[in-house]
Amino acid sequence: MRERIRSAAEIIGLSKHTLALTGAGISVESGIPDFRSFGGLWERFDPMEYGTIEAFLENPEKVWEMFLEVSELIGRARPNPAHKGLGLLQQLGLLHTIITQNVDNLHQEGGATRVIEYHGNSRSLSCLGCDQHYSVEELGGRQPPRCACGRILKPDVVLFGEPIPSGALQQSYDLASSCEALLVLGTSAEVAPANTIPRTAKRAGAKIIEINLEPTVLTNHLTDIFLEGNAGEVVSKLVDEVRCMVAGR
Ligand code: APR
Repeated sequence: MRERIRSAAEIIGLSKHTLALTGAGISVESGIPDFRSFGGLWERFDPMEYGTIEAFLENPEKVWEMFLEVSELIGRARPNPAHKGLGLLQQLGLLHTIITQNVDNLHQEGGATRVIEYHGNSRSLSCLGCDQHYSVEELGGRQPPRCACGRILKPDVVLFGEPIPSGALQQSYDLASSCEALLVLGTSAEVAPANTIPRTAKRAGAKIIEINLEPTVLTNHLTDIFLEGNAGEVVSKLVDEVRCMVAGR
């Protein structure tokens, strides 16, 4: 493991354009379960009944049961060493942008300033009837929150069946097409189009460093260095190694 951390640190230290792609696994140590692991959210909430735009349009009150539970978890969550480590790499000029599939704002709270929210965010809500937009703060405690027109609001998170915000999609593609190294952390890479980012980066010649508790669909085909373990622990070690390496030059 030590050797692999060292090789990964060397790649990051030498790369002129490094990106990170993160998924729900990076926030598990902050108390937010992921989706597909044992005990994950999709075990409790059937994605067909709670995770699609069709489900929301048909029965928004039901889908809000899941939104409420998740927003309580997000409200209590604090950035963990993985979020903070990536934030530090960004501040040191060693990580250009973080593309996250998460909607929990923990990268920003962990010190990152350039974050692409590929699946939207949970801080703002929209009315699918009159296209009015609200921030979480301006809405009262009434649940589920409603628009002034009376309709139940939808958080600006991307449900299955909805498009990826066009700016996030294009920017991520452009960045992946020109990066030299990509860190992939805490994602099963099961969901498109986010899971096309590693292939795009690889085609551009980037080295892929993957951090996960277990191998994924990427590990044997695309990944150059697989660092197995908790994101918090592995990122901390990796950041220490990168800092030592950069300081010693
Ligand atoms: N450290 C590192 N990896 C972890 C940790 C941890 N502490 N805990 C879990 N993981 C890994 C799991 O092994 C798994 O590979 O994180 C991954 C989480 O995968 P998913 O649950 O599929 O989450 P994600 O890849 O983000 O899902 C993508 O699916 O339902 C949608 O919109 C939702 O954005 C989400 C998308």
